[in-house]
Amino acid sequence: MDAQALENEARSAIAGASTLADLDGARVRYLGRKSELKQALRDVRDAKTGSVLNALRERLEQAVAERRSELERADLDRKLTENVLDVTLPGEASPRGHLHLITQIRREVEDIFLGLGYLVVDGREVETTHYNFDALNFPADHPSRSPQQSVFLNGDVLLRTETSPSQIRVMESQPPPIYMVSLGRVYRRDTPDATHTPIFHQVEGLAIDRGITMADLKGTLLHTMRALFGEERKLRFRTHFFPFTEPSLEPDVSCFLCDGKGCPVCRYSGWIEIAGSGMVDPSLFEFVGLDPEEWTGFAFGMGLERVAMLRHGLPTLGLLWENDLRVLRQF
Ligand code: DAH
Repeated sequence: MDAQALENEARSAIAGASTLADLDGARVRYLGRKSELKQALRDVRDAKTGSVLNALRERLEQAVAERRSELERADLDRKLTENVLDVTLPGEASPRGHLHLITQIRREVEDIFLGLGYLVVDGREVETTHYNFDALNFPADHPSRSPQQSVFLNGDVLLRTETSPSQIRVMESQPPPIYMVSLGRVYRRDTPDATHTPIFHQVEGLAIDRGITMADLKGTLLHTMRALFGEERKLRFRTHFFPFTEPSLEPDVSCFLCDGKGCPVCRYSGWIEIAGSGMVDPSLFEFVGLDPEEWTGFAFGMGLERVAMLRHGLPTLGLLWENDLRVLRQF
């Protein structure tokens, strides 16, 4: 066997291998068990030939290892340039939603009252006639007790028609002083039109302490209206009737759009009806076992959709329910 010729031939096969598979072919051919070199090594009879051939085997093995790492490196380089990933490019932005306008207003109202030290309390959407009517001093023949006006689940269980039952539940669950608001959905059998939907949202407020007067009610509502509609707002009060307040007052807020001059939003009166309120009727205290000689309080209720419609000039309530993103994205 011509060792030099074999080495030359093997080296050029190894150097010429352009893939790992080619290289493996060359390795098998020149260094495999049946290769000429391995045969010769097996037939070796003298030490000198043995060391020459072993040295040759080592050189060829080394050449294969070097070529292998070259090919692997080239392979890696190719992969890196073929699947170019530029980690410095900005990622694909995943579209993010945002809170519904009513949720935003709900949180805003909660924040206003948390700032005044009020508790935010959850009420129940499914109520009994006891809490929804009786304990709120509704007379037995009040029209809202009719299944034509309210959504009854069975004889004396209904979807609450207002958030006011939360007043009773809070008075039952903790002793005064009480400063709380409760916000959520209410249900009425109203035919949907521009200003009515069978489901809407209210905020209920209740303050009970020793020596609470109507001045406290007025001041609290004025603060609330200014926080919602701007620091320039003024309030005026009209007398009204609610079964659970005595006296009852309806606050009007001066129009934030025309500042009282008259415009379509305030129907050219300069004032906007915004809420119901009053001093807690002593009969409610008796219902829950509080002494009306010791405690006084005020309460109020307001629709959140109404706040949204006024603030944004929404022509119909439906816009808040249709979930048309072109509308909702504007808020
Ligand atoms: N519950 C009344 C309604 O739905 C709103 C209301 C009026 C709540 C006066 C009150 C209140 O707490 O004092 O029309």
